[in-house]
Amino acid sequence: MSIAVYLEEEARKYATKAVKADQEGDYELAAKFYDKAAELLEKLIRLYPDVPFKLTYIKMIKGYRERSDYLKKLAEKKVKAIAVGGEEEDEEDFENIILAKKPPVTFNDIVDLEEAKQAIKEAIVYPVRRPDLFPLGWPRGILLFGPPGCGKTMIAAAVANEVDGVFFHIDAATIMSKWLGEAERNVAKIFRKAREIASDGKPAIIFIDEVDALLGVFQTEVGGEVRVRNQFLKEMDGLLDKAFNYHVYVIGATNKPWRLDEAFIRRFQKRIYIPPPNLEARLELFKMYTSKIKLAEDVDLYELAERTEGYSASDIRDIVQAAYMRTVREFFEQGGEGEPRPVGMEDFMEVLKIRRPSIDSSMLDAYMRWYEKFKAL
Ligand SMILES: Nc1ncnc2c1ncn2[C@@H]1O[C@H](COP(=O)(O)OP(=O)(O)OP(=O)(O)O)[C@@H](O)[C@H]1O
Ligand SMILES: [Mg+2]
Repeated sequence: MSIAVYLEEEARKYATKAVKADQEGDYELAAKFYDKAAELLEKLIRLYPDVPFKLTYIKMIKGYRERSDYLKKLAEKKVKAIAVGGEEEDEEDFENIILAKKPPVTFNDIVDLEEAKQAIKEAIVYPVRRPDLFPLGWPRGILLFGPPGCGKTMIAAAVANEVDGVFFHIDAATIMSKWLGEAERNVAKIFRKAREIASDGKPAIIFIDEVDALLGVFQTEVGGEVRVRNQFLKEMDGLLDKAFNYHVYVIGATNKPWRLDEAFIRRFQKRIYIPPPNLEARLELFKMYTSKIKLAEDVDLYELAERTEGYSASDIRDIVQAAYMRTVREFFEQGGEGEPRPVGMEDFMEVLKIRRPSIDSSMLDAYMRWYEKFKAL
């Protein structure tokens, strides 16, 4: 066995032990094991800087260290924050993570994506308003997928404002490292809360951003991903139970749908593609993002839209920002008197020279291939 494999396996063993101790409430021991797992992975990276999965290891190390620090603090304070059974739970902390204030985004702030908005309305907004018009039920799981920076998170956030309900925002990538040993229990807790809210007559929307992170990279016990995944599948099935006719929705978002396994995908009956902006949408985005800044006469937004095929909505926002920054920088360098000059076409052109598009056609093909494959599932 190579040293790399050995180190990884050892790290895995300690991580598994850590999660177990963590769940049993033995914080000190758990912290020790998390540290040990982190040390082993650190050693692995140090010895083999080119090891595959290096980034994953770095993430795991960070997760273990954070959890360990947190547990050490808990152990110090002798606070029994997360006792099984519930009474002494650190409710406030938990709610801060999941119960987001309604984000200040509405469908009107989102450029284009008309089909996606319509699909969301039909899947969530209309059934919430008039459940009687949906005798055959409605989908409970909705998956938004597509390239980065094109509005998945934004559209999910906007749903919260379209229906009068309670919005749970879970960033899976963050919680998986923050919660580690508690992740499985916390997933159960979120769904329980959502059901409570729904049975009081309010819709509950559970939004899981970067949902692929729930599955983790490894199909083993490191960090407990497998159990989290299974808990999640169980909860999703609970929502589909015929006897359960409340309004609990799960919206998942991902830019790596191919990471999800079939069992997972099947729970999201409705899958909505969030595409990159086309020419028209890019023009709208440029208009929107430049509306608050002073533009020189020579700026041709249509031309910019034409030149930005492959750029995401978020890229376009950054481009406008960077072009504007050129004038601000100049302003301060020249003494900071008066006002910055208007942003000219050259500012945009200079920014475009450096800033590459974040989406390419092979990426789009991959989404389409994935969509074709799972359409009928
Ligand atoms: N359709 C859109 N209209 C207006 N602004 C947009 C749109 N899509 C994205 N943006 C801008 O880009 C930012 C990032 O978008 P968002 O977080 O929704 O992307 P995402 O699809 O969730 O990306 P990722 O896959 O990386 O999570 C938004 O905060 C917003 O400023
Ligand atoms: Mg997002």
